[in-house]
Amino acid sequence: MSPEPGPDLRWSEELSILATALRELETSFGGCPPFEIAWEAGPLQQQLVALAREMADNDPYFHPLYAGQMLKPPHPVARMAWTLSLFINPNNHALDGGRATSRLEKSCIQALGRLIGWTDPLGHLTGGGTVANLEALWVGRERRPGRPTIVASQEAHYTHRRMAGVLGVPFVPIPVDSRGRMNLAELDCVLAREEVGTVVATVGTTGWGAVDPVDEIVLRRAEHGFRLHADAAYGGYFSLVPEHLDPSTRRAYGALSVCDSIVIDPHKHGLQPYGSGAVLFRDREDARIYAHDSPYTYYTAAGGHLGEISLECSRPGAAAAALWSTLNLLPLDSGGTFAQFLGESCVAARDLADRLAGDPKWTILNPPELDILVFSARAGSARELSRFNRRIFEEARRGGLYLALFEAPAGRLQAVLPELEMDRPSVSVLRSCLMKPEHRGWCGEIVSRLETAWRGALENRTGTR
Ligand SMILES: Cc1ncc(COP(=O)(O)O)c(C=O)c1O
Repeated sequence: MSPEPGPDLRWSEELSILATALRELETSFGGCPPFEIAWEAGPLQQQLVALAREMADNDPYFHPLYAGQMLKPPHPVARMAWTLSLFINPNNHALDGGRATSRLEKSCIQALGRLIGWTDPLGHLTGGGTVANLEALWVGRERRPGRPTIVASQEAHYTHRRMAGVLGVPFVPIPVDSRGRMNLAELDCVLAREEVGTVVATVGTTGWGAVDPVDEIVLRRAEHGFRLHADAAYGGYFSLVPEHLDPSTRRAYGALSVCDSIVIDPHKHGLQPYGSGAVLFRDREDARIYAHDSPYTYYTAAGGHLGEISLECSRPGAAAAALWSTLNLLPLDSGGTFAQFLGESCVAARDLADRLAGDPKWTILNPPELDILVFSARAGSARELSRFNRRIFEEARRGGLYLALFEAPAGRLQAVLPELEMDRPSVSVLRSCLMKPEHRGWCGEIVSRLETAWRGALENRTGTR
């Protein structure tokens, strides 16, 4: 059984709002001489209905019973703003191709900068966290000639190692502590033996939602002279809700303002459609690494083209239109509606953890630092437990609850389940990113469906079904 979205979703109602705004846009360009754009409504409609049928082959990512991977529905204003801007289809590479949306993008970067206490950062939007991190690592390599090595925790996003390969520089993974944060003693060993150019601190790891001790890493920068890059693709927005963070996590967030660069993905927690990442640099001097000329595109204005400070050439003005509209409607104010949404996610993760912790069937593998909860059933060995968790995952899906699976290193489980026989180097466990503010009100339903899934998995294992 899957949740039954129906008219409650009110998606089609968005169209009347969009139509009003489109009429305004049409009026603005009413001075252009009329010309024919040939399209016929019939085939177009048929094609779109065919697409809607194709799109049904997705899990209901927008629903609170989707509590799996990092998928958060865009805010309606972001959806509509993105769509509206496509009628102009601006390109934020150069002012000449996207004057208005370039201006909006610059204002978005300033808003993201203020979130971490920067007054005039350099930066721009990107297609996502991977490209944003690549740019920060590339600038880091260029600004630390002769010190190419990049280090990041073993739990950092897999693309850091890959991007080090793209940049042709060594990558050293640093083991993590029992909470999944970069182990500082291990970092010190590497700093003592290698000329490290960039340390990547992850602020919200993809698997566990753990926050590296940015404040402690900063203390090592003066002695070792590395650049400090914060990959806050997932966790950046939680700067707004220090009251929901434990003291050590809060200290890490407090040190973001002294990092050299930061990545924050609006398409993760910022209510944006995919195709919305951001990279920011504290020192505007970093712009010189991007210096180049483009004889075809930069012609009407001296400076100010976003292409002059980004690695990619063409980029969608639509991303800026959507983010700017969202930031206007839901500003990044502490105590504001957006901040309350984030707080609800933290509360939901803790609520779910508490409910499961009270039941001996379940083990909590990470007291959630942000809004990601990793948990597991119990069984005798790593192999059996992996199989059992996978069955729960499947049964839950059948029951309309969508979770994610995660391969957790066996060592991490041994700390919590010392009796577990380690006949496998990792264990498949269950993971939930409780990213929607609505999740809080659905924790009871999630637990009840988990119970059913657990029983179904047990019957399946013992062959009673
Ligand atoms: C911490 C972190 N960094 C980087 C990325 C990569 O971002 P993207 O998928 O937007 O390229 C992710 C994606 O989940 C992430 O969680």
